[in-house]
Amino acid sequence: MSKPLDIVILAAGKGTRMRSDLPKVLHPVGGRPLLQHVMDTARVVGGQQMLTVIGHGAEQVQARLAADDVTFVMQTEQLGTGHAVQQVLPHLRDDARVLILYGDVPLTQAETLKKLVAHVDDSTMGLLTVNLPDPGGYGRIVRNAEGEVEAIVEHKDANDEQRQISEINTGIMATTAKQLQTWLPTLSNDNAQGEYYLTDIIAFARRDGIAIAVEQPETVEEVEGINNRQQQAALERFYQRRQAEALMVQGVTLLDPARFDCRGELSVGRDVVIDINCVFEGTVELADGVEIGPNCLLKNCRLGPGTVIKANSVIEDATLEDGCEVGPFGRLRPGAKLASGVKIGNFVEVKKASIGTGSKVNHLSYIGDAVIGSGVNVGAGTITCNYDGVNKFQTRIGDGVFVGSNTALVAPVTLGKNATVGAGSVITRDIPDEELAVARGKQRNIAGWQRPTKNQ
Ligand code: UD1
Ligand code: CA
Repeated sequence: MSKPLDIVILAAGKGTRMRSDLPKVLHPVGGRPLLQHVMDTARVVGGQQMLTVIGHGAEQVQARLAADDVTFVMQTEQLGTGHAVQQVLPHLRDDARVLILYGDVPLTQAETLKKLVAHVDDSTMGLLTVNLPDPGGYGRIVRNAEGEVEAIVEHKDANDEQRQISEINTGIMATTAKQLQTWLPTLSNDNAQGEYYLTDIIAFARRDGIAIAVEQPETVEEVEGINNRQQQAALERFYQRRQAEALMVQGVTLLDPARFDCRGELSVGRDVVIDINCVFEGTVELADGVEIGPNCLLKNCRLGPGTVIKANSVIEDATLEDGCEVGPFGRLRPGAKLASGVKIGNFVEVKKASIGTGSKVNHLSYIGDAVIGSGVNVGAGTITCNYDGVNKFQTRIGDGVFVGSNTALVAPVTLGKNATVGAGSVITRDIPDEELAVARGKQRNIAGWQRPTKNQ
């Protein structure tokens, strides 16, 4: 039995360079706050406790990310990374291994962290390092003649020779609670920044005969932190590229993986095709053979097999069965439910409405608070007038109905099975099954009419 694992996440810093009212760790990558990424990864690594050190914007951070498995620990003054970890000492179990993560380093792979933690025992601690062509600003890894890690020297405290070292401290390390309890109370802030450096514990470890096992990540982006908007944008692109690669491995065609954005969970069947500039949010499911045209936004929706979404459509909180077609320029709002083979054409908005098998609403219409049967044809420019300024009312349209163009259906109203509506009608009363309703001004033709003429 290996020892239990406590995970500490440092997230008290201010993030001045974001120039934002939002605490840094709440800024998103891939639609999720930075700290949420770290917490989700910590869950995969499998700590028994998640101790999150917060300070700046603590209330907002807690409100957003509170969870049963998270304990927030306040660090009122930010006196350094060592000081931050000191705050959690009372919460650590004596027999635990401890993994230290950073709330602003969102994309570390759980596998990398598991390897790091696996090194930890009473005589070894783990340190995650990386080699950078431009190591300026970071803590440098100082090794002895045998190549063993001896210490970390912060950039501001380093001499010229040490500043040549390209191997840097990612900040992520793993050790035991016992060792932290021994070392942290003895930290001093006698250094260039007047801070309590967590990094000083490496030298303490060597002094106490503890070996430093080094792991390195697969890619640099895994250990990159976010301090400004440029770094946020760079990691966003990396994250999206990683998701795009994973989708292509699953058999999805992405016409351009560099122009793909998923800010949630996207699950796909076989032979799905996604054109450029599509954005996926929330939970989106695309069944076999679904095709998404360019410039579409899909949020919290489920698309059945063979459904095709054409260019510039927006779909949110909607369910579409198989073989549907939407767009170009279609808009499905919350509560839109399309049965098999439904067609929604250009400039059509559907809200809180179910539309039956094979029905068509092809042009310039608003369908809201409606139940539409199967085989219905809704003509161009048809509007369900569902709102009297205070209340919303339902429109019910039976199977096989034909609604002529430019019709206003004033709800509440019911159109019976196979009813027909003449173009340009304002329907205010129910129509019985099979009947024709025409509700418009009668046409008059006036013979000999003279058009007015302009005075020259
Ligand atoms: C730290 C490391 C440095 C490493 C670098 C990697 C130390 C002394 N230095 O430097 O070796 O190369 O990270 O990015 O550890 N934080 C708190 N409370 C504090 C101070 C910091 O919670 O009092 C949090 C911050 O919110 C941040 C993280 O700790 O998430 C790192 O702090 P930061 O000030 O950015 O450390 P660096 O100086 O960059
Ligand atoms: Ca930093």
